Amino acid sequence: MKKVYLETFGCQMNVSDSERVATILEADGFEITPFEDSAEIILLNTCSVREKAEHKLYTRIGQIRKSKQNKSAMVGVLGCVAQLEGETLFNKSEGIDFILGTKAVGRIARAIENSKVGQKQFVDLGEREENYDWFVSEHQRHSPFISFVPIIEGCNKFCTYCIVPFSRGREKSLPASSIIKEILKLRQEGVKEVHLIGQNVNSYRPPTDSRLEDFKGATPFSRLLRAVAATGIERIKFATSFPRDFHTDIVDAINEFENLCNWVHLPVQSGSDKILKTMRRGHTVDNYLKRIDKIRSSPRQISLSTDIIVGFPGETDADFRETLKLAEYCRFDSAYLFKYSPRPGTPAFAMPDDVSAEEKTARFLELEKVLRHSQFNSLQNELNKSLEVLAEGFSSKSKEFLTGHSKCHKIVNFEAGESFLGQIVNVQITECKTNTLFGKIM
Ligand code: 5AD
Ligand code: SF4
Repeated sequence: MKKVYLETFGCQMNVSDSERVATILEADGFEITPFEDSAEIILLNTCSVREKAEHKLYTRIGQIRKSKQNKSAMVGVLGCVAQLEGETLFNKSEGIDFILGTKAVGRIARAIENSKVGQKQFVDLGEREENYDWFVSEHQRHSPFISFVPIIEGCNKFCTYCIVPFSRGREKSLPASSIIKEILKLRQEGVKEVHLIGQNVNSYRPPTDSRLEDFKGATPFSRLLRAVAATGIERIKFATSFPRDFHTDIVDAINEFENLCNWVHLPVQSGSDKILKTMRRGHTVDNYLKRIDKIRSSPRQISLSTDIIVGFPGETDADFRETLKLAEYCRFDSAYLFKYSPRPGTPAFAMPDDVSAEEKTARFLELEKVLRHSQFNSLQNELNKSLEVLAEGFSSKSKEFLTGHSKCHKIVNFEAGESFLGQIVNVQITECKTNTLFGKIM
């Protein structure tokens, strides 16, 4: 049995692809090992969204080839960097044996079979098979209690800074009937929470599907949400949402169905209309805020997270102040903040990267303060309240504590034993730190 070590960088889509790669390999008689040193095959599933993420690949290959144990291992590169660079990767980095694009992951076993260590000959950047199997075996899921369910792949938005439409191709929605079938099966297996995932989940447009006909809703995505809610699975989360296609009917669905979790991730990227336009986001500050107002008006206290980029080409201090203003208005419950990173091949790459590194850092730190403040306030608001928490695993600090997420996607640590793992428990919140809540089981 050949041992395979699989390392994943980047977003939930990559994690989900890796789960499938592990499932396929295991069915083909390989053993997936968590120990890099004993592996005969090392797979790196890569991310290219920012330069730093891409560089991780080169660093890792260097480390693998330097290590005595791994010298003779076969190294395969998967994911976004593989798709974008293709065989040029062989010249950029010594020690890669094969390259498998984002749509070719179903052919992983063939790639291994056709490669020989040190021969750099195998590249597959081809399309997904018609009969591609989206199945993930129970013990290859990243969690026994949570399952990622892709509902739409790719992206058609072509925001000017973003490499994803090039690395993941055009938007393609998966049939609602197979999504529902999968979720019913997961529920039977004891999965407590599903995450409907995609670059832009609310752009979901499946081929006509009778499974959605019984559900009201203005858009296919809100009908899908209702149909998934009707499966009775305990919790449903979804990410990422795209502001332009975010119909407020999604909020109505959350208000209606208790098992649709009260959390929305809605990346805004900037608070300046001028920058949003050059980013080609397709939304303005005003129509973003209208959606935020609808989300905030929900009686379910929906928590709100976002992504923001600072230092995009042409961003002046005044533009940045607009972003600060937006962040203050939105009081995000959490946020991911990035410095603009030029990606070759994107339209923004041709724009002068005219915000200096120092200025990017200064803006990052200033905005981070505002975001930390609202995040801390949001956590403090939970003090003395009771939250329903899915006990997902042991806390990294102590075996006496379990950790998990609330319905509104806040991290909660609480004192409890192993027997609670996989259960949804009521936790009384007693303390909050920068990113985490602490509490006691009620
Ligand atoms: N530079 C910096 N951040 C980026 N993102 C995407 N592309 C870039 C880039 N070139 C961020 C966006 C997106 C998140 C996943 O990554 O904020 O929402
Ligand atoms: Fe990238 Fe924009 Fe597509 Fe998101 S919507 S993946 S930021 S191009």
